[in-house]
Amino acid sequence: MKTRDSKNLEELHQNLQEENMGPLWSSIHQLNTIEPKSKPIAYLWKKELIRKRLKEAEELLEVGEGADRRAVFLINPGMKDLEPVGWGGATQTLYAAVQAVKPGEIAPAHRHTTTALRFIINGHGGEGRVNGEKITFEPGDFLITPTWTWHDHTNINDEEVIWMDCLDVPFTNFLSTCFTEFHEKKQQDLLVEDNFSLKRYNGGMVRPIDDRKEKIAPLGRYTWKMAKDGIEGLMELDPNPIDGYAIEYINPSTGKDANDRIGSRMQCLAPGFKGKAHRHVHSTIYHVFKGEGYSVIDGERFDWAEGDFFVVPTWAWHEHINTSSSKEAFLFSTNDLPIMEAFDFEVEENFKENDGHQIIQSVFNPIKVD
Ligand SMILES: [Fe+2]
Ligand SMILES: [Fe+2]
Repeated sequence: MKTRDSKNLEELHQNLQEENMGPLWSSIHQLNTIEPKSKPIAYLWKKELIRKRLKEAEELLEVGEGADRRAVFLINPGMKDLEPVGWGGATQTLYAAVQAVKPGEIAPAHRHTTTALRFIINGHGGEGRVNGEKITFEPGDFLITPTWTWHDHTNINDEEVIWMDCLDVPFTNFLSTCFTEFHEKKQQDLLVEDNFSLKRYNGGMVRPIDDRKEKIAPLGRYTWKMAKDGIEGLMELDPNPIDGYAIEYINPSTGKDANDRIGSRMQCLAPGFKGKAHRHVHSTIYHVFKGEGYSVIDGERFDWAEGDFFVVPTWAWHEHINTSSSKEAFLFSTNDLPIMEAFDFEVEENFKENDGHQIIQSVFNPIKVD
């Protein structure tokens, strides 16, 4: 293709575009923004809608035959245009899904460079194998599957088990760094005794002596009791004015995040709690484990109830309110704070006007089941 001389600025811009270049003088503020501009938006998915679609998938698909995993994942409307499948992004870095395993099903063994965690929502009898360890789990438990570890799951009981998955799929996709491998066996061999890692850390804030050498992912299962005990201790004290009584899941060997690329928290909002607003660079996916209330995100009210999911994107003002006068609300959340901190991007700011509370300008209307 032959080049042509540019006669005016408009023509120069067009020529640059056709020649796969760009004029920095007119693009600099789009590239170096004054403050973060999030492609993902604040959004909320209702439990009833997710479960309805998951139920339909259960009728149409068998795990192991036609589906390695039966999970419905959340696509942020702001990322819908990204190919393929919105990069599986609930936020710019994090994927979230709700997965169902019926009694007797085996989700076959595989491993991937995306790092994963699970939060058990419903059902007893779930069992997973991670890196040669059998891990049993119950509702409220938090589990990790670190990068490149073999994992498979089954359900040995007679009721369906449902959990939330969170992986750094969009982040990995952006970096083009995803490898996946399928195990030759449906279930991997067990190499240590059942619940080995949970037994090693039974004491909570004490660790086995051989942990003086740091371990990357020494604990596979964090029980609901552990999280609850942590929160109950905090409830003897004043709540955090923004997040109530909140804990984060940590690696007991290093004190860092339990999963090195995804942060995870559980927070309790006491009855009537009205949190103050703040914003930060890291993005967050919330799952309402128990209770009901609403969050105000950049002036929009998002009402939530047990089982719902919602997203607070990067640099969005947000505050959480428990509307019940008698029941606590528990929010499980995952975030990309470890990534933001690793690259020194994290900034946090408190909302100073109106005693820390935003003015509600609109109310979010979620897609509901008929
Ligand atoms: Fe997986
Ligand atoms: Fe926050």
